[in-house]
Amino acid sequence: MRVPAPAKINLHLRVGPPRADDSGFHPLLTWMVTAGLFDTLTFVRDAGRKRDDDHARADGSASIFALACSDPALPTDSAGNLVTRVALALADTLSRVGEGSTARGAMRARETGRVSAFLNKRIPPGAGLAGGSSDAVATLIALNRIWDAGWSREKLSAFAAQFGSDLSFFFTAAADDGSAICTGRGEVVRPTPPPDTGRWAILALPKFPMSTPAVYRRFDEMNLGDERSIIEEPDFAGWSKLPAAELMPRLINDLEPPAFSLRPELGEMRAAMEKNFGRVFRMSGSGSSVFSLCDRFDEAQSLATRLRNEMSVDAIAVEIAPKVTWETAAT
Ligand code: C5P
Repeated sequence: MRVPAPAKINLHLRVGPPRADDSGFHPLLTWMVTAGLFDTLTFVRDAGRKRDDDHARADGSASIFALACSDPALPTDSAGNLVTRVALALADTLSRVGEGSTARGAMRARETGRVSAFLNKRIPPGAGLAGGSSDAVATLIALNRIWDAGWSREKLSAFAAQFGSDLSFFFTAAADDGSAICTGRGEVVRPTPPPDTGRWAILALPKFPMSTPAVYRRFDEMNLGDERSIIEEPDFAGWSKLPAAELMPRLINDLEPPAFSLRPELGEMRAAMEKNFGRVFRMSGSGSSVFSLCDRFDEAQSLATRLRNEMSVDAIAVEIAPKVTWETAAT
C-alpha cells in the first residue's frame, strides 16, 4: 500500500501568550493549506515471518512494525520518528482493548503480523512544513486499513492529536479541500476555502533546520504573546478571493521575529528576496521555509529558477491545496 503525505504551509500564523496551565503550549490562530510537496510511504506485510515471533514479545507490539527511510540521517526508531511512534501506539492500543471493531483490529494485527514501511523523504525536516506529522497521519490511515481496525477518521484524528499539534489538520485535509483554520494548540480544525487564484507558491528551502520548541521559547523571551491577535479573526473567506499580490501583504507570521532572532541569516535572506523580487515573502510555521503565493504556475516556476540561480537558495514551485485522495491513493 502506497500513501502520499503532503507538506503544509501556514499562510497566516498568529500566536497568543503561553497557556497558564502547565502544558506550555501557545494558543494559535492559523490558516493552513496543504502543499504539493510529498513524502511517500509504502507499507508491506511481512508474509514470510513466523507469527510466533510477534507473540513472543512481552508488550506484543514492539516487533510488529519496522521503518526504513530514504534519508539515512533520519532516525527510524520510536524516539526519533513519529511514524514508528504512532504505529507502535496504535498496535499497542489495538492489542489492549477487547471489544467491537477494535478487537477485530487487534486480531488482524496479530494475524497479519509485522508490517514493514518505507519512507521516501522529500519534505525537509525542520522546515515548518510538518512532514513528520503528515507521515504519521498517512501511517495511521494505512495501518487502520491493513490491520482492519475499522476506526472512523474522527477516532483516528482524536488518537493522533496526542502526538503533535499539526496532525489533526491532515485528517481534515484528507477529507476536505486541504485548507483550514486551526485554533486551540492547532488541533481544532475548521475547513475554509483555499486561495482562489493564488493556487501556486514559490517555496524557498534553506539548508538549515529550525527547532520549533526553541523558536517558541525565544517568542516567550521576547514577550511577544498578545491575546488579541488570536481572538480577532480576519475575514479568511474574503481573503481567499483576493489575488496573490493583494493577499500576501495581509498575511502575518508571529514566529518570524523569534526565528530571525535565533537565525539572523534567515531574516536577511527573506529581506534580500523581498528586495530582489519586489514581492512579499512569509515564513511557514517556525521556519526555516519561506514562501510567496502566485496566481500562475509559470510565475512560481520562473521565480524558483531565479532564486536558485541569482541567490543560490534551494527553491521549488508547488501547488497549494492539491487534490489528494488519500483513500484511492492507497492501493
Ligand atoms: O505539537 P508540536 O510537536 O508541533 O510541538 C513542538 C513544540 O512546539 C512543542 O513542544 C512546544 O514547545 C511548541 N508548541 C507550542 N505551542 C503550540 C504548538 C507547538 O508551544 N501551539
